[in-house]
Amino acid sequence: MGDLATLVRQTLDEVAASTTLAALDEVRVRWLGKKGLFTEQLKALGALPAAERPAAGARINEAKQALQSAIDAATEKLAAAAIEAELAAGRIDVSLPGRGEARGAVHPVTRARLRIESIFRNSGFEVASGPEIEDDFHNFEALNIPADHPARAMHDTFYFPDGRLLRTHTSPVQIRELRKGRLPLAMIMPGRVYRCDYDMTHSPMFHQAEGLVVDENVSFAHLKATLQGFLQAFFEKELRMRLRPSYFPFTEPSAEVDMSCVFCDGAGCRVCKHTGWLEIAGCGMVHPNVFKAAGVDGERWTGYAFGMGIERLAMLRYGVNDLRLFFDSDLRFLSQFGAA
Ligand code: FA5
Ligand code: MG
Repeated sequence: MGDLATLVRQTLDEVAASTTLAALDEVRVRWLGKKGLFTEQLKALGALPAAERPAAGARINEAKQALQSAIDAATEKLAAAAIEAELAAGRIDVSLPGRGEARGAVHPVTRARLRIESIFRNSGFEVASGPEIEDDFHNFEALNIPADHPARAMHDTFYFPDGRLLRTHTSPVQIRELRKGRLPLAMIMPGRVYRCDYDMTHSPMFHQAEGLVVDENVSFAHLKATLQGFLQAFFEKELRMRLRPSYFPFTEPSAEVDMSCVFCDGAGCRVCKHTGWLEIAGCGMVHPNVFKAAGVDGERWTGYAFGMGIERLAMLRYGVNDLRLFFDSDLRFLSQFGAA
């Protein structure tokens, strides 16, 4: 029993020397385990005279306790250090540059729209927009398309239960701008339009850019020159343009604008439905009834208007032969278009 103090000092030295949790546990088992040396000591108490046993037992238990608390303290310290080390190893440096980050690009339709806006801005047009959910008045009535007008059949309209609708073209923005009464004006009005329509050159949601110029003595010649100038600036190459007499209730006279097909150079192919031409816009001189509905004096003011299909322009400029590719969100397709 005399060397109990020595034993305790020895065990505490071992605890202090343990640098891992596993080593500490070994110490614990060797001294305090079922076959541990302190347990042996307790067993040896039986050999002592009865009078000495309680005091000797108390001293052994005290030594055990001291060892146990030393082990507990060391365990806590090592566990905390282990967590610290793990955290340090897994620390994320948020200032490091990312791996394999790809640069995004402007969607080709947006690119085409920005290009259209900038070309028209450069020739003095303002850019305006209107709501995609329209009422019958702006989308049809004020554009000289009364309820029983056969031209309504040309528009495969999506209606809401309350009679409102998804605008079928950007022409209603003409009405909204004219009703503000700020004349003369020259405006380009791009935006989304909706029709129940789907094939290689039609999609149920697509984009148009409406053009409107109202001033004194505006003529069809101005319209043609504007379109020609725009198309030259937009495509930066020789594409033929033709005006085909057509009909819109809101313009008189009216025409449709065709560009020679870039895919077959006018020879005829699947994309242009073997005509050699792709229709990109409708246009004409603002109809007197439109001025009347918008509260504009048609005796004083004259104007021209046009509505271009932005996807069609994008197809021709970027050589995309199926309009639906624009809306599939396929990154392999989209990533081919760089920054604007
Ligand atoms: C109109 O929508 C008239 N509002 C255009 C207009 C404005 C005429 C001002 C006169 C004065 P149209 O339905 O033809 O017309 O459409 C105009 C252009 O939008 C077409 O030339 C075509 O380029 C494009 N377009 C029409 N339908 C679709 C579709 N489903 N998907 C993609 N582009 C389309
Ligand atoms: Mg048309």
